[in-house]
Amino acid sequence: MKLSSFLYFAGFGVKTVLFRRKKPILGTVILTDKCNLKCKHCSVNNITAVVHPYSQIKREMQTLYDMGVRILFFCGGETFLWRDGDITLRDLVVEAKEMGFLIVNTVTNGTYPIDLPEADLILLSLDGDRERHNAIRGNCYDTIIENIKNATADNICLYMAINQINKDTVKDVCFTARDTKNIRAVSFNFHTPYPDTRELALSKEEKADCCRVISQMMKEGAPVFNLKSAFKHLINNSFPTPCHQCVVIENGKISTCGRCIEVEGLCNECGYFFVAEYTLLFRGNVKIIFEMLRTYLKYI
Ligand SMILES: C[S@@+](CC[C@H](N)C(=O)[O-])C[C@H]1O[C@@H](n2cnc3c(N)ncnc32)[C@H](O)[C@@H]1O
Ligand code: SF4
Ligand code: SF4
Repeated sequence: MKLSSFLYFAGFGVKTVLFRRKKPILGTVILTDKCNLKCKHCSVNNITAVVHPYSQIKREMQTLYDMGVRILFFCGGETFLWRDGDITLRDLVVEAKEMGFLIVNTVTNGTYPIDLPEADLILLSLDGDRERHNAIRGNCYDTIIENIKNATADNICLYMAINQINKDTVKDVCFTARDTKNIRAVSFNFHTPYPDTRELALSKEEKADCCRVISQMMKEGAPVFNLKSAFKHLINNSFPTPCHQCVVIENGKISTCGRCIEVEGLCNECGYFFVAEYTLLFRGNVKIIFEMLRTYLKYI
């Protein structure tokens, strides 16, 4: 991370903590909800299957920038499916950087070739070992691993949503992150139980078991892009929600924190690690502040 970006984020953090500000810093643009997969745990794919045009995406990026957002995510649906004529996801990433976003990331299912060296991080969903990943996502594990190895930069961070199907394969994903070319780290989430996927949710005890495994892996040097100090809050769902420093824009509509804010009661069962990490950070949790400094400077 550039020193100027670091200082900008530090200033934002200090002002947010001291004055209890609710201004956003992290924003997500949903490029499309169209997807080539139909994962068992996902409730947001192919609802409209509209690929939003470039002019709209550009406007949405500008809206987020004007609101103060400086960490931009592109998400979907499947982001690598997005294009408008000759304009591709890669052009959007380059344009976002030129607009002044300090960190630009994208989230992908990894089933398409990966040529996105300008992104700070490509969060690539890998949901277990081959067997469990394929049970959740269909038969695509081998293609994804091949795409990772052939990627044109080493900016990939695995992204695993832990649920009832893959809860015993956290270690496998840590090893894949440690041992595979082009992968910088792995970041975890617990399943967030939308009404149609409640059966995949983990109990408190199961979450605690997973956190024990992740902590052990961290101790043994696995590259985990999460904050250990947030684990107890994630296990007990005792972190504040929603995250006021995060916004999502989809088809012109802005939501605080996530699109899931509309699902009644869901925030009480939120499994997204970034929500715990950011809300605790901006409440001024000292352990989280120091751990975040260490972790972010290591991986971005
Ligand atoms: C909705 S997908 C969109 C990007 C891309 N298609 C992908 O799969 O990475 C973004 C991330 O959300 C995760 N996800 C989907 N439903 C979830 C849920 N109910 N709880 C936690 N994570 C979830 C996916 O596993 C994926 O890592
Ligand atoms: S690939 Fe992503 S958007 Fe598509 S179904 Fe799976 S989790 Fe949902
Ligand atoms: S806190 Fe609520 S709105 Fe935010 S990600 Fe979790 S469930 Fe979604």
